Amino acid sequence: MKTVGFKGRDFLAETDYSPAEIRKILEVAEELKLQRDMGIYHDNLLRAKTLFMLFYNQSLRTRNSFEAGMTQLGGHAHFLDPSKIYTPALEGKEVAYSTERVSDVARVLHRMGDAIAIRCYGDPVEWEYGGAHALLREFARWSDAPLLNMEDDIYHPFQGLADILTVKENFGGFKGVNFTMSWAYSPSIHKPRAVPQSAILYASMMGMNVTLAHPKGMELDPEIIKKCEAYADSEDGSFRITNDFKDGFEGADVVYPKAWCPTALFKAPVGEENPEKSQEIFDANKDWKCTSEMMDLANKNAIYMHCLPADRGYEVTNEVIDKTEGPGWRSVVYDEAENRLHGQKAVMSLLM
Ligand code: CP
Repeated sequence: MKTVGFKGRDFLAETDYSPAEIRKILEVAEELKLQRDMGIYHDNLLRAKTLFMLFYNQSLRTRNSFEAGMTQLGGHAHFLDPSKIYTPALEGKEVAYSTERVSDVARVLHRMGDAIAIRCYGDPVEWEYGGAHALLREFARWSDAPLLNMEDDIYHPFQGLADILTVKENFGGFKGVNFTMSWAYSPSIHKPRAVPQSAILYASMMGMNVTLAHPKGMELDPEIIKKCEAYADSEDGSFRITNDFKDGFEGADVVYPKAWCPTALFKAPVGEENPEKSQEIFDANKDWKCTSEMMDLANKNAIYMHCLPADRGYEVTNEVIDKTEGPGWRSVVYDEAENRLHGQKAVMSLLM
């Protein structure tokens, strides 16, 4: 039975936690970060505990921050490639001696370890929007150990946590911070939308003034938008959408320009399963690129954020992403990447 409080809970979506609980997690992350800077590792916190990590997609940051985090807390992170085990599959999608039902995999792994973490979006669920999140929820239903979402097709809750930790470090808090999540062009249309959705959810939850900028045709999940509007009301922030790239940058303290796929790419009934139309929308908006001129439209000490990997030369110029110091606006992408480690250590310490 999963308990109330933090211990034993899943971390599948930031919306499963209250704004106060997210603020508490941030406090723990800041404390762990400070202590690591002093050489204090708390390697008794998760001593002898195992995190099973199941990656249906590639990763640099997520895999290595979880592995390093578990090591620093005294435990072990175990990498699992779904194609090298019996691929976990939902009922109805099973293939004899090639897949294994999710309910069985979850119950076996939680008998051996202390948490299960999964990344799944896009091709493994044939771009059925919500299919990967449903897979994670099914794992969670059968696992008594916490289930951690390392990015699915709706949410990337650990990336979003690192994002707001980075904002807090730069602005001392969230009140009055103008946060812009913007679409940017990439030659690849196969970009999940979990990062922008989690970014605007967390920013709204923390009461920032949130702008979502994208070309027409690049709308995010209407349910996520509704939640952002509700958070803006309850947390005394604001939320707006613009289809004008420059309007998104003007007066921003935080700009977060990155590509995500249009709804047209997803399978029906959510989308149209139409890669040609998706490519057309992308190619009509090649000028949505973050340049120094665009950064000059933002506030004087604005920060440029990106979850990475960035498509340099398309989403952003080298001049912007590499300007990590000096006067005026600057890029904080490596702080943001490092903060994956601290946010995840905080969540694992509290949940495991
Ligand atoms: N930002 C992020 O999730 O990076 P990886 O895909 O490298 O894990």
